[in-house]
Amino acid sequence: MTPGDVPYKNTGNLYIDRVKPILQTRCYRCHAGLNRESGLRVDSRAYMLKGGKHGTALVPGDPEKSLMIKLVRHEGPKDDPMPMPNRRGKLPEQEIRDLERSLGAPEAPDHARRTQNPLDAPIHASLSYPFCSQ
Ligand code: HEC
Repeated sequence: MTPGDVPYKNTGNLYIDRVKPILQTRCYRCHAGLNRESGLRVDSRAYMLKGGKHGTALVPGDPEKSLMIKLVRHEGPKDDPMPMPNRRGKLPEQEIRDLERSLGAPEAPDHARRTQNPLDAPIHASLSYPFCSQ
């Protein structure tokens, strides 16, 4: 494990185990709560869908069109590439794939919102969405 690596828990849920910790470690500093660089928050799926100044950051089922995926891949528009995370190196390939697989899944539920109530967690953990299971 290199510094900055995210320790993965294993509850069998891709978003909770891997994607949320990636976003928390790599993006929340500038895109969560009161931090809204370019108008974007990534601390819930609804915010990612709403996006920032450049429109939606996430197009479910279409990573190619999802701005946040393009930017972490350093494949942003030529005139305004905005590689993310800003001023840091590129994310490890595995993390980018985890983001694509979970966030890019069609009609993935808003895990961030749904799991806000801890009482709901066991119910959600028992649902087997194909894009949540490893
Ligand atoms: C150190 C601060 C910082 C971090 C960390 C960071 N960003 Fe950003 N982000 C910015 C800034 C500043 C902009 C505006 C850049 C510009 O306009 O050229 C931006 C813009 C964006 C945009 C475009 C929003 C829009 O509509 O204009 C997306 C998408 C984005 N970031 C995703 C991410 C993701 C995903 C991560 C984590 C992997 C991340 N960012 C981490 C600072 C950051």
